[in-house]
Amino acid sequence: MSKNLADLRNNHHDFSLGNMDINLSDSPFDIFNSWFDNAIASGELESNACVVSTVSLDLQPSSRIVYLKELQDEAFIFYTNYASQKGKEIQNNPKASMLFFWPKSERQVRIEGLVSKLPESVSDAYFDSRPLQSKLGAWSSHQSDELHDQKELVERMAFYENKFGENVPRPPHWGGYALAPTLIEFWQGKSSRLHDRIVFELLEGNWKIYRKNP
Ligand SMILES: Cc1cc2nc3c(=O)[nH]c(=O)nc-3n(C[C@H](O)[C@H](O)[C@H](O)COP(=O)(O)O)c2cc1C
Repeated sequence: MSKNLADLRNNHHDFSLGNMDINLSDSPFDIFNSWFDNAIASGELESNACVVSTVSLDLQPSSRIVYLKELQDEAFIFYTNYASQKGKEIQNNPKASMLFFWPKSERQVRIEGLVSKLPESVSDAYFDSRPLQSKLGAWSSHQSDELHDQKELVERMAFYENKFGENVPRPPHWGGYALAPTLIEFWQGKSSRLHDRIVFELLEGNWKIYRKNP
């Protein structure tokens, strides 16, 4: 590594006030939407990219980036291959977490909850809206399985292109997941390391709101 990582300290000076801009009477979903809009307005690259972590049967956590596609009915929606590693892990253990980091505004949002499959009609509608190549990719990629030769993938693309032409149906193994949160934490970086952390935790149907030490 060419740089000494210890020198890469960020003093959180760049962001003017470290203002959380949170009204505690708002729902955590309204706050998320407002932070998300702010991330887009600030020109964050990939503002809807988030880390989703799942846990295997032998309790090994695993993380990967996915795109948040929607916040609907108080659940965070993403799409993937149900037969992928994450899909199998979710099937065995629906507890998962989702993490956003928006560096320009020094903000992190940490979400925990239960994942369930979206209704097929919703996945169908979203799949329909995707570009042709993405639709063919969903058929061709046996996501997370070992690929012995890149050629296999190219051949499968050609096979499905030939099979479906322009009218590609949604593969049964591909669709959406909704993460229904039981905890959402908003983290705002501030100068002097006195970062703000506000937690919304769902307890018996009500959001309990509290701060945490940074
Ligand atoms: C910026 C970015 C966005 C991604 N978006 C998705 C996505 O929306 N859905 C998805 O299945 N994989 C997405 N991926 C690929 C995943 O990170 C991952 O490689 C893939 O889903 C397989 O993960 P798994 O083997 O843990 O199931 C994305 C990767 C990056 C870097």
